Amino acid sequence: MCGIVGYIGPSDAADPIMEGLARLEYRGYDSAGICLNIDEKLVLFKKEGKLVNLGSILNEVKPKSSFGIGHTRWATHGQVNDTNAHPHMNEEFSIVHNGIIENASELKAGLDYNFLSETDTEVFLALVTQAYKREADVEKAIFSAFHAVEGNSAFVVMHVKTRKLYAIKHSAPLVCGVNETAGEFFVSSDPYALIGYTSKLYFPEDGILCVGNPGANLEFKFFDSEMNPSSKYKTQIETRSKDVADKGNFEHFMLKEIFEQPQLISKIEKRLQDEDFKLPFSQIATNAHGVFNIIGCGTALHAGMLMRNFFETYNQKRAITDFASEFRYKTPLLQKGDVGLFITQSGETADTLACQQHCKENGLKTYSIVNVEGSTIYRSCDKNILLEAGAEIGVASTKAFTQMVVMGYLLSQSFAGKFGETETKNELQNASKAISDILSREEEIKKIASEIYNYKGFIFTGRGNQFPIALEGALKLKEIAYVHAEGYASGELKHGPIALFDEKMVNIAIINSDLYKKTLSNAQEVKARKGVMVIIGENHLEEMKEISDFYFDVNYFGVEKLKPIVSNVVLQLLSYHIAKLKGTDIDKPRNLAKSVTVE
Ligand code: G6P
Repeated sequence: MCGIVGYIGPSDAADPIMEGLARLEYRGYDSAGICLNIDEKLVLFKKEGKLVNLGSILNEVKPKSSFGIGHTRWATHGQVNDTNAHPHMNEEFSIVHNGIIENASELKAGLDYNFLSETDTEVFLALVTQAYKREADVEKAIFSAFHAVEGNSAFVVMHVKTRKLYAIKHSAPLVCGVNETAGEFFVSSDPYALIGYTSKLYFPEDGILCVGNPGANLEFKFFDSEMNPSSKYKTQIETRSKDVADKGNFEHFMLKEIFEQPQLISKIEKRLQDEDFKLPFSQIATNAHGVFNIIGCGTALHAGMLMRNFFETYNQKRAITDFASEFRYKTPLLQKGDVGLFITQSGETADTLACQQHCKENGLKTYSIVNVEGSTIYRSCDKNILLEAGAEIGVASTKAFTQMVVMGYLLSQSFAGKFGETETKNELQNASKAISDILSREEEIKKIASEIYNYKGFIFTGRGNQFPIALEGALKLKEIAYVHAEGYASGELKHGPIALFDEKMVNIAIINSDLYKKTLSNAQEVKARKGVMVIIGENHLEEMKEISDFYFDVNYFGVEKLKPIVSNVVLQLLSYHIAKLKGTDIDKPRNLAKSVTVE
């Protein structure tokens, strides 16, 4: 979704802004813009399409400025074009925005302002400008506009006369940062944009105005709506260096992230005895007795489905799963003692956040499994289990999914009082080994991809714990290869989808010793209808080879409960290589956003 980067300091503003925006490209966008203060005038550069289009303009013009804001837009109000791209400005103010103003049309109708774009953002600009004319006070003007708008948004405002950066948000991500040595202020929608630039980060609460004012002790100042200084923000010392944002020798971030998975699991295995690491698991295990409402979107929900299976099968705990976008608009049956468990890589997905609020308002304890420390969900839940995945840049989630499932497994082990036991340690070690083994056989998977990538469609199937993996495999393929793919429970094939099979349709069937005979029969039914059969099997069950057109035997190295995260790595690589053969933009697939901050 929209990305924001603002800078004020002694150096060239365009460099860190453009670098920050480039880092946020993974979130998805359709146009970009930057506004710079040049000789006390606001100068705007905006361009539809990729950030390189804006970059070429800046390379030609080479504007010099030490104060500016930039934005990558993911259209919500108004078409994708140069005019609707942010920033939006007039002679006083320039504004960027991430989110949606829900009452924009009503507000617009009552405003006497010369609107240039079709965006909701310009309504905020008009409100600030009008209020400033009345009040002659920038802070008051921003608060007045902020209180008039409805919906979840973050706004960054630059005001040319005061030479200050202002930022404020409601249920949308916003981070401010300073570089104390260089005397620089930054603001962004994502801390990832600021890595290597800042030494200290500030995460303001909703409705707190942040003012970056060079010369004023090099600190952001925070105010509540009465203009009293506020301490409603969290700080974090930033130690990460720029190379965290590098893809090393890998062609894509997605591939790099797939290959990081074994080490990341080993890292968790080594932390099993750390008190800090154990704490949230034991706290949740001690306090959660009712039904688990496990909520997420996309890949995160697939991880949640596996957690539900773990809790019900191994802990006899009732759990339901739902898409966040569905759960929030029905009347979920929530009872005293039930809990909400929110699974999200970014911690910023709007629908997931709304469900967390709903559960909280209904008196439920809310917990998250999340990758981004300091994200909105992290700050809103009673307890959080943090993934140890590091920044995930590929839009299609891989390592974060694996880590979510591992954390769900550890929570289940915690319920069973087996968190630190040898069984848990071995399971993690074996999963890491089994995934490394698959990665070492990448060429075999690449070969299968080259044989099947041009077929008409792909039906992924699995049973039990491999069913969420069938859904996840199909989602990955759709996301990055732009081909039609569906995930089905193997036993459901005969209730409809089997009609699709002919010699142009592929069935990617995950079959292992769990529910082996039944799943094998389903594969035979497809084969009898001439479907192209790719089996992701298990190494000691060779008879599957006979009915497959393409066979990949997985060595699970003794893994039991975590088998699904092992077979899933085969599907991750398969999707990756099919997408490569199709020539798509693997790290930034069309129409998708990494962090979906609108409903
Ligand atoms: C977007 C991404 C998906 C992701 C989903 C949930 O749709 O494209 O890959 O699974 O959001 O994101 P979250 O950050 O909540 O895990």
